[in-house]
Amino acid sequence: MTILGIETSCDETAAAIIEGKDSYVILKANTLATSLDLHAKTGGIIPEQAAREQVKYILPVIKDVLQKTYGADSFTILNKIDAIAITYGPGLIGSLLVGVETAKTLAFALNKPIVPINHMVGHIYANFIVENEKINLPEFPLLALVVSGGHTDLLLMKRHGDFHLLGGTRDDAAGEAFDKIGRMIGLAYPAGPEIERLAKLGNPKRFHFPRPLLYENTYEFSFSGLKTAVLREVTKLADKLTSQTIQDICRATQDAISEVLVKKTLRAVKEHNVKSLLLSGGVAANQTLRDSFSQMITEQGLTTNLFAPAKNLCTDNAAMIASAAYFNFHPIPLNDITADPELYFN
Ligand code: KG4
Ligand code: ZN
Repeated sequence: MTILGIETSCDETAAAIIEGKDSYVILKANTLATSLDLHAKTGGIIPEQAAREQVKYILPVIKDVLQKTYGADSFTILNKIDAIAITYGPGLIGSLLVGVETAKTLAFALNKPIVPINHMVGHIYANFIVENEKINLPEFPLLALVVSGGHTDLLLMKRHGDFHLLGGTRDDAAGEAFDKIGRMIGLAYPAGPEIERLAKLGNPKRFHFPRPLLYENTYEFSFSGLKTAVLREVTKLADKLTSQTIQDICRATQDAISEVLVKKTLRAVKEHNVKSLLLSGGVAANQTLRDSFSQMITEQGLTTNLFAPAKNLCTDNAAMIASAAYFNFHPIPLNDITADPELYFN
């Protein structure tokens, strides 16, 4: 089955074509236009500006994946796909509407089924996109950690489509903490990748920031206390924010966030005795975090298999949306699909 995926929940306009093959998915084409440069200048996303950019890019990205897959980008070539997958939430309403209405129009004109997908579910399903069939695949029961700019969610899945939320964030998400702390020390949005780079040059002993909820008997997360602790330190240092100090703050921030994510997640891995652990979302692109997960899994003698998508499939993309639709193929009548900015796991 060949699926065209469309994703426009935030500042990325993305399209992809995947082919589902029983228990895994192969990527045929994946493309993305981003208005990140605009948002880097303003230090964050301005929703109306993001939506206007979505309108500009939506048709070019769809044409691009058709060209890459079929060598032609005409409307009639779209007939070769079997279904359309679309992100319907959560996200920015203006951005979501561009993708949802485009997808509905195409589905109507082509008379193809359309599958609405929760963006967070999409992140998890990036783990089922493989290069070839010889690669190991996730097995159930599994635990999925979604760490993005808007969410930090830990889910138990016993089968496809079955999402049992063990815990989410009470306030800031992990990616949000990276971005807000980055802003305090003068880094451009989104700050996660730059914090990862600078942390490598930082002294791990100079600062120690709090690990919120680490030892509490809950799988919920909270990162706003960490953010406040960093702000206190930055205010104290005032104009003494040298590049070494910035690197030391990056190191201590990344250490604090990683330790909370790894230790709490592995506690859940043991409690639920899962076969696989799936990392996903933009923060899962952090190599130090990935390494720290594999190191702790080995140190604790766990047999759980660790999975993390290719780095370009951790951050927002449409391939993950098409993959989620393949494994959860529930087409919906056009009129029943509406964008839902507050969508969560239910
Ligand atoms: O999943 P994503 O692309 O968008 C949302 O659904 O939110 O995640 C974006 C988040 C941003 O907060 C960004 O700073 C963070 O992922 N991020 C990283 C890294 N790459 C992206 N955080 C830490 N280390 C990275 N290498
Ligand atoms: Zn995302």
